[in-house]
Amino acid sequence: MAEEMGVFETIHSMRAMRRLKSDPVPTEMIRKILDAGIRAPSGQNLQAWAFVVLQDPDNKKFFQERYHQAMLDRFGNALKVDPSDKSSWARTVRAAMHLAEHMHEAPVLLLVCGKRDWPFSVPAEKREGKAPPSYGSIYPCVQNILLACRALGLGASLTTMHQMFEDELQERLGIPFEYGVVATIPIGFPSGKFGPVTRRPVSQVTHFDQWGQHEPPA
Ligand SMILES: Cc1cc2nc3c(=O)[nH]c(=O)nc-3n(C[C@H](O)[C@H](O)[C@H](O)COP(=O)(O)O)c2cc1C
Repeated sequence: MAEEMGVFETIHSMRAMRRLKSDPVPTEMIRKILDAGIRAPSGQNLQAWAFVVLQDPDNKKFFQERYHQAMLDRFGNALKVDPSDKSSWARTVRAAMHLAEHMHEAPVLLLVCGKRDWPFSVPAEKREGKAPPSYGSIYPCVQNILLACRALGLGASLTTMHQMFEDELQERLGIPFEYGVVATIPIGFPSGKFGPVTRRPVSQVTHFDQWGQHEPPA
């Protein structure tokens, strides 16, 4: 059973799944995923997360239209890739655009919200306007959610393009000012296959005692 996958296998095969079937995802599965999310650590254990499970077709369509436009506005010509281009960048762009065009067809768009709070580094006298959500306290929850989706055989991908229309989104869904939307995760049964993910190797990005020393001292 997918649920019995080992943690490392789950991590290694959890890639961004941007091509999803429109088949419904049972509410019990959504609850299970969110129950994994809320097990995450958070600063002072404040658990400053809240979730909006978007399933309403009109709201999903609203989201998709704004998201698609935001992609075009933000990335413009960079999105033009030759259909025969097999590079990893071209594949990512094609998948990202597929998602932008079909996002509303995903059965669930999960909005992960975070309570706004100034980082410790911003002194009281400089705290003007809206504080950002505590990203550091919300992303472990987001990662748990993505891993739980993978373990249950559901496709999901982390997206943040809603930042381009966040005020409108919050107003439409009645998300209070004290919260910000940190990530939007389309979730559904995948059309494609899971993993493996390609990353730069540990040896390249790890430094032992001194920056630039990629091997531990003998
Ligand atoms: C902070 C953050 C923001 C991201 N925003 C988006 C996004 O708006 N749209 C999208 O399609 N993918 C987004 N991604 C997904 C990344 O593009 C993806 O994780 C990366 O390309 C690796 O893909 P892979 O896991 O399939 O190898 C985001 C990822 C992170 C961590």
